[in-house]
Parts: sequence; structure tokens; C-alpha cells
Amino acid sequence: MTRNQLYRPQFHFSPTAHWINDPNGLVYYQGEYHLFYQYHPDSTVWGPMHWGHAVSQDLVGWEELPIALHPDEHGTIFSGSAVVDWHNSAGFGAEALVAIFTHHQDHGETQVQSQSLAYSLDRGRTWTKYAGNPVLPPTNRMRDFRDPKVFWYGTPEQGHWVMALAAGQLILFYRSSNLIEWHACGGFGFGYGSIEGVWETPDLFELPVEGTNESRWVLLVGINLGAPAGGSGQQYFVGHFDGETFTSENPKETVLWADYGADFYAAQSWSDAPDGQRLLIAWMNNWAYARQIPTGSWRGAMSLPRSLSLARTDEGIRLRQQIIPIRPSLQQEGDGERISGVVIPAGGEYRPTMEAGGEEGSAFGVRLTWPGGSTVTIGYANGTLAFDRTASGVVDFNPAFPAVHSAPVALNHGRLQLHMIVDHSSVELLAQQGLLSMTESIYPEEGALQLSFFANNAPVTLDHGELHRLAPARTITTRSPGADRGSAAQP
Ligand code: FRU
Repeated sequence: MTRNQLYRPQFHFSPTAHWINDPNGLVYYQGEYHLFYQYHPDSTVWGPMHWGHAVSQDLVGWEELPIALHPDEHGTIFSGSAVVDWHNSAGFGAEALVAIFTHHQDHGETQVQSQSLAYSLDRGRTWTKYAGNPVLPPTNRMRDFRDPKVFWYGTPEQGHWVMALAAGQLILFYRSSNLIEWHACGGFGFGYGSIEGVWETPDLFELPVEGTNESRWVLLVGINLGAPAGGSGQQYFVGHFDGETFTSENPKETVLWADYGADFYAAQSWSDAPDGQRLLIAWMNNWAYARQIPTGSWRGAMSLPRSLSLARTDEGIRLRQQIIPIRPSLQQEGDGERISGVVIPAGGEYRPTMEAGGEEGSAFGVRLTWPGGSTVTIGYANGTLAFDRTASGVVDFNPAFPAVHSAPVALNHGRLQLHMIVDHSSVELLAQQGLLSMTESIYPEEGALQLSFFANNAPVTLDHGELHRLAPARTITTRSPGADRGSAAQP
């Protein structure tokens, strides 16, 4: 992959060329994390969807492989999931990787969506579509009927497969003993949470509640239109799942957001991740302007993978996200720089010496500045964290892009804790030990990034901090140029 292109992330996954959107088919098998993704090999804008494919051993360095799934007579290949069929329930072969995805057909005003299977017996390198596709035929009552997330429920000996499927503003549940015959068994939605937009790309999993021996189920739902930062975003529900349907433990009006930034969508977790971890990754983009981001010959990137847990807070049980606990995947260069006990006077500023590569109204915060003047300001005031990207570089490709996004945040004994990862064209911000997440794309000029901390109307103490420069990740492309159907040469 060409690493020195403007905006190219250095340790996030981005395709060598062309368009990507949702992560798909996330499964861990024999030491490899598989990442499939919505891919258009003929263009840098969305079009007939394929499943592109990459694998990683550490979730940081990626190897791009040939396209896994191409459109066929049933339609193009929309989002879905993958499992290891450990007990060969489908009869495709021992330890088959099985992909469960949506076949999509466009008929002008109408669209037809059904659910289908493909399997691989060679560690995901080649795929065979199931001859009996689709396994869940289209229903003429539902125009939006897509994005199957499949997982095994119960013990290895006694249990069944579950499929969560997005249908308008509902999540429908189906069960199966063999991945082929599916029976409707439940539904969730009916006015719960945010219903401003269409629901997409569900995920459902159980997580322990930290410090207790309880657990809860988390239902993640992408919503396209109505997210806190505008456009598409990621909501979640906390509750119970009995193998057939999900119930929320919160009232209908409770809306929980997994991210308050503009660029965290279609989040999915890996099946069979090692050590019982629940690892999540999202498309770092927003349907509001995804087709116009100024990246050139490639378009779209994934977030860093995050590990999930549940925390009991004063408001209830909430999702906690932590970036890359898997070390030493993200390599730090040198010793970094430590900050402790720095008092920033009212109206003052503190600049750490390390170069890392409209705060009016904000009580204090962090500013990122590039040599040509591009600036991002992250400010805290009155229980709100605000991310200002109005002057962050190229912002004029879509009027929805230059904006200040904000999120509610409770200080912890007067303290704000931030973990921020900047990778050329993205900022991932986790506050209060991962209880608040804001993911934003930015398009500043090349050059060393300067970090500074500011205090406005009252002095602020920088208690403790660490700055690290992160090394570019290794990325390999084993696809030959032109291997994609009808593709242009790789840059
Ligand atoms: C979400 C989504 C999915 C669909 C896919 C199409 O971003 O709209 O619902 O399967 O993208 O590329």
C-alpha cells in the first residue's frame, strides 16, 4: 500500500484503492482476524457491492487479499457476518467459515433484499456460494431487510444459531440449527431508542458487568439519519436476550450512543475473538458526506479495534470502549513524553515539547495545530465536551462536514481523562476511561502536529499525561493489480 499519500492513515485499515464502507464478516480463526468490508472495486464512490477482504494477526498490520464475494444472479453483496461452523451444522465441511450476507437487488424505486450463505474450507482464501441461496427469501412487506448478524447461543452441545436482522426500525430475530433453515422468533424496536432514521447493521452480544458477577446483552444498531453529530451513527441498547428475543432494561425514551463523533458507523464485533474478548471496529465515515471525502484514489477507513466491557454508572449500565489492549501491536517510537502537575493559568496555554507528527466558551481543552494553520479544538465546559473541526483543513467538500459536535460528559471529582489517537485523517477520542467516545475524520495539511492545552477563565492543572508517537503499521497487499473485476491499476 502506498503509505505516503496525503490523508492516508498509518495504523488504521484503509484500502489500497477504491471505495469501502461497513466492516463485514468479522471472525477470528487459526490466528487470523478476518476483516471483510463493503467494497466497490470499480470506483471511489459506492456502487455494486462486493466483500473485500483483509487479514491481520494483531489487528494493526493488515494483509489485503483478493475479493471474497462478487455479485451474482441473486444480487450484489451487502453487509453481513461470518462464523466458524465448529460442528459442521450446515454440512459444508469441517470447521467451515460461513458468511451470512444480504443479497441486494435494485429495481429503480424498489429494492429486494434476501439473506444468503457462502462458505470457505481454506481459511477464508476462496469462497463458494451456497447452491440453495437465498436461505431467507425477500418479503414483500419489508423493503429494508438486511445485514444479518449470526452467532451461536447456548452451550456448544445445546444451543442454536441466532440471526439479528435489520428491518426498517426493527431488529428481527431468527433461529436455526444448521444456518440454512431459519425460523422467526422475536423482534425488538417498536419505538425504543432513536427512530429518526433507518436501522442497519445490528450486532448482539453478552458482556460481563465490571466488578459484579452479572452480565447484560448489548444490542448495537446503526442508524442512518438522526445521530448526535448528524447523519449516520451508532446507538446501543442494554438488556436481556433469552435466545429468541431481546428486551431493553431501559425505558423507550432512553437513547444511548456508542459514539458522539460524526465518523463511527456500522460497528461490528468479531466472532470467536481470543480470550473471550469482545472487539469492535467501525467504518470511520458518515453517509452524510462519505462520497465526497477528499482522499483521492481510495475512500474510507476503519476505526481502530476497541475492546468492550460494561460499567455500572450513576445513570445505569453503560458501554466502555478501550482502544487496542492487544500489545505490542501499536508500536510506540522512543520513550514518549510525560507531563505531571502543570498548572495552566487562566487565559494561558501549555505546549508539551513533543511535536506529535473556537474554544470560546470552553473552560479548558486541547488544541491540535498543523503548520498551515489547520486547527482542531476539543474543549470542555459545563458538562459538555465539544469537538470543533470547522477549521481542521479541507472542510468545504460538503456543508455537513465543518461543525462542532458535542457530547455530555460528567467530570470525575473535577477531572477529565482523555485518551486521544490521531492518525493523519482521524481523531479517536475516548473520555472518562472509555465511557464516552468521539470519532472524527479530519483533512489537515501534511506536517508536524503541535499539541497544546489551554485554560480560559480559571486555572487548570494538567495532572498527568503521556504523549507517544506511534509507528506506521505493516500493511501488505497480496492482490495483484487488476485482480479486481474491471478495476483500474493500483496507485
Ligand atoms: C450500512 C449499509 C447497510 C448495507 C450496506 C450497503 O452502511 O447501508 O445497511 O448493507 O451499507 O453497502
